[in-house]
Amino acid sequence: MMIKVGILGYGTVGKGVVHLIEERCSDIEIKHILVRSKEECLDDHFTVDFDVLLEDIDVLMEMIVGDSPTYETIVRALSKGIHVITSNKVTVAAHLQEYIDLATKNHVQFRFEASVGGGIPWIESCIKAKRVDQIHSIKGILNGTTNYILDRMAKEKIDFDVCLQEAKRLGYAEADPSADIDGFDVQRKIMISSSLAYESIIPFEEYDCISLRKIKLVDLEFFSKKGYTIKYIGFSKTKGNQMYGSVEPVLIRNDSLFASVDKNNNMIELYGDSIGYLQFVGQGAGQLPTANAMIQDLLDIVEHKVNKIEFDKKLNMDKTMCKFTYVFCANQYQFDDEIIKNKIEVDGRRIATSKPITPEERNEYLNCIMQLDKTCVCLRKEED
Ligand SMILES: NC(=O)c1ccc[n+]([C@@H]2O[C@H](COP(=O)([O-])OP(=O)(O)OC[C@H]3O[C@@H](n4cnc5c(N)ncnc54)[C@H](OP(=O)(O)O)[C@@H]3O)[C@@H](O)[C@H]2O)c1
Repeated sequence: MMIKVGILGYGTVGKGVVHLIEERCSDIEIKHILVRSKEECLDDHFTVDFDVLLEDIDVLMEMIVGDSPTYETIVRALSKGIHVITSNKVTVAAHLQEYIDLATKNHVQFRFEASVGGGIPWIESCIKAKRVDQIHSIKGILNGTTNYILDRMAKEKIDFDVCLQEAKRLGYAEADPSADIDGFDVQRKIMISSSLAYESIIPFEEYDCISLRKIKLVDLEFFSKKGYTIKYIGFSKTKGNQMYGSVEPVLIRNDSLFASVDKNNNMIELYGDSIGYLQFVGQGAGQLPTANAMIQDLLDIVEHKVNKIEFDKKLNMDKTMCKFTYVFCANQYQFDDEIIKNKIEVDGRRIATSKPITPEERNEYLNCIMQLDKTCVCLRKEED
């Protein structure tokens, strides 16, 4: 049977999806493509009318940016009994529970493989791992732009701002790169992943989020000599009914697989109680990898494959649940505090290592330092 698809968002990913459907999916018909203006309508598949977009289709493939008119359109589609596939983490993170409930009520699917890790089949694998195991932790390089910046800084000895400009020129970073470099993109991706893995939704705003903006080349070089690479990591961990989640720069040992993830690639890892560590590496963004993940979702719908997604556990975000060693780097702050275990000064940068402290203690300490010295960077030291 021919499956009829509506395309919302004919940009980078949307064009990739249309290309792959036309080239590789003979039993799928692109019925409508919604664009902003009549001038963009190339033939009578194109429309500017949301009512027409949702007419006589089986699946809506949503690839616009942000939550409006995304939310309204997804709700309308699911309510009409249309399956929905999206790559848009902003809308997934904001309404995941509502979308899943609405899809279940209307006997259709809401799928979002491409919203985390681009082309990496992570969401599917996470749901599968959870069928057998209790998942205890997730860790990931989930943003290609920041990984590209850190990789170039380390390899070519270039400072953050220069790498950011280069990332913008190559189209890896947006004109306003805040979602990438301040961590909001990863915050949503780790929230979506954790919700699936732990079967409990905790709003993404509750995850600690430390910006990468203040990282300096001198910091990377200092830790490189000590055997560490800095990576921007989304992380979450559970203990009983508690969980902790964060986005922050982390010191990773140079011999770890995470340290070897280069360019704009992504890597995601989970730990399950019988499977142990499972790791996934690949292109976390890009036109065809992301479109590929959308097509995988589409083919699963065509083949009537249904994933069981539940959020019936109640976990609380607990920022005192675990202790970590944190390293603080700053230009002026003296670090003469009880919380600090040792400190040194290198090339005008003061570097201080904390005793094991909770994320809550770290947050309070970092807030105090930032009022006195805005150059401060905080790095979590990965447990050895
Ligand atoms: N690019 C990637 O590698 C990647 C990877 C994973 C996930 N994603 C996600 O996929 C989604 C699309 O990303 P993208 O890179 O393809 O973005 P994009 O190139 O900016 O494409 C988005 C398209 O949607 C159109 N659009 C936005 N609002 C619209 C509206 N109200 N009505 C009609 N058209 C509208 C835009 O038109 P205008 O240009 O006129 O605004 C643009 O053509 C985003 O949610 C993104 O986070 C992207």
